[in-house]
Amino acid sequence: MVIIDKRLNESDRGLSDLCRLARWKRSKQGRIPSGTSCSLLAVKNTLPHYPQIANPKRYLDSAEAEGRKLFPYYAGFSDAFVESTLESICLPNNAKIFDPWNGSGTTTTTALKRGFEAVGSDLNPAMILVAKASLVSSLELENLLPIAHSVIKSQSPASKKSETDPLCNWFDPQSALAIRTIESSINRTLVSPSTYLELSTAEALDKVTPIAALFYLALFRVTRRLTQNFVASNPTWIKVPKNAADKKHVTTQCVTSLFTKEIELLLSQYKKRLFASKVDPNRLNLILSNAENLPLSTDSIDAVITSPPYCTRIDYAIATYIELAVIGIGGVQFKQLRRSLTGSSTVQKSNIEIRAEWGRECKFFLDALREHPSKASQTYYLKNHLQYFDSLYKSLSEISRVLKPEAPCIIVVQNSYYKEIRNDVALIISEMAESLSLKPTHRADFSSSRSMVDMNTNSKKYIAKRSTIESVLFFNKKTTFNLQPSLDSQPYTAT
Ligand SMILES: C[S@@+](CC[C@H](N)C(=O)[O-])C[C@H]1O[C@@H](n2cnc3c(N)ncnc32)[C@H](O)[C@@H]1O
Repeated sequence: MVIIDKRLNESDRGLSDLCRLARWKRSKQGRIPSGTSCSLLAVKNTLPHYPQIANPKRYLDSAEAEGRKLFPYYAGFSDAFVESTLESICLPNNAKIFDPWNGSGTTTTTALKRGFEAVGSDLNPAMILVAKASLVSSLELENLLPIAHSVIKSQSPASKKSETDPLCNWFDPQSALAIRTIESSINRTLVSPSTYLELSTAEALDKVTPIAALFYLALFRVTRRLTQNFVASNPTWIKVPKNAADKKHVTTQCVTSLFTKEIELLLSQYKKRLFASKVDPNRLNLILSNAENLPLSTDSIDAVITSPPYCTRIDYAIATYIELAVIGIGGVQFKQLRRSLTGSSTVQKSNIEIRAEWGRECKFFLDALREHPSKASQTYYLKNHLQYFDSLYKSLSEISRVLKPEAPCIIVVQNSYYKEIRNDVALIISEMAESLSLKPTHRADFSSSRSMVDMNTNSKKYIAKRSTIESVLFFNKKTTFNLQPSLDSQPYTAT
């Protein structure tokens, strides 16, 4: 058993991470080989797998299919994966499919296309709009250009130039106003004619039709194009210029012309989407909700196909910083959302303790992380990971609650690393599931050559080559489910 018992001693303080790591490794000779998984004691995966399951990675879709994507979402999984999964689980025609981390809506739109009912929830309002935009039917497409003209025509500077507009993070106030004017016009023409409706609540988002969402999507794409030079080497991160001189300047004319072009481009993309005509948007319910507390009835869902935020320090709020700014979410509101998203890189003050029901592997990993000599392991990184697993467990518990007895639950996850310590999220989820009446049935692993964690070149100093595995985990909800916490659900005492 790997026991890490040496705390950082006084003489280590002030040394660089690398130097401290070398000392720590020497002190551990033969005890924790570099790159070793904390899951050395884990039961080997002996579950059968469905051979026909397609790779969940979206970038494996053909270039043509990629060209049809309405929103280039780095975190999305492939349509082919959802198709093949639905095929293998054989559901009745009237089944209700649910994705609690809906993102761009791959699960829900694919389920709709196959005639199922679907429910998708996500805590990020921008992602609710993106998912809604894919529901525009082919019948509505002929109205697109006339509506675009009326949106453009009815532009009137709705508000005065505001230095506090979140778009001013990247644009000078005049340019931010040009974008805001179009946004206000979409809002008043297609969402709320009487007063501007802020799209930050579930009730407000319910009022957005797929067509209105498509216009928001077009403006997201315009604003993304204009801010392309602020995107960091990690495509999920966007820089905010410090100096006013570095902010972007665009004319109203330029924004209007880009917006029109984007609508035309979307129109041609929608025409290529084979399923646009078959989608009945009334069979899909998109909800703004935290996966930790789902507004769904117990035993109401026939299948879950989903993918939680990975523990790879992708910041899902920063990844949609621009889109959130377009709908006016910035400042305190943005910070609140960022803190609430699972996997956030921010750390909240509340003290979270390791819990027995998170399983052995999770405790093993967190203990190893806590003992790691690199800077902030015992402080920021420990808290950050505790927060991640706490949120993951609460969400899995909700998923289990809303599933009907015997219903399948399919979860896609990627392993990651803290320095050289492997974070086997697939095993951790499997162990958490055990205490939540989710019985593992099948598993398929795909090796992945690309992970967001590898974008951080700094991380390579710990292990040059990390193996990234994308795992598809299949569970079935057991027939009896006791909502009371089990007797052993006490916090672990710190080691
Ligand atoms: C891995 S992505 C899902 C991608 C999706 N499968 C697709 O194909 O687009 C995870 C999603 O979870 C959302 N999310 C993060 N924390 C959440 C929470 N606590 N509750 C609900 N959604 C959350 C993020 O906004 C993100 O859209």
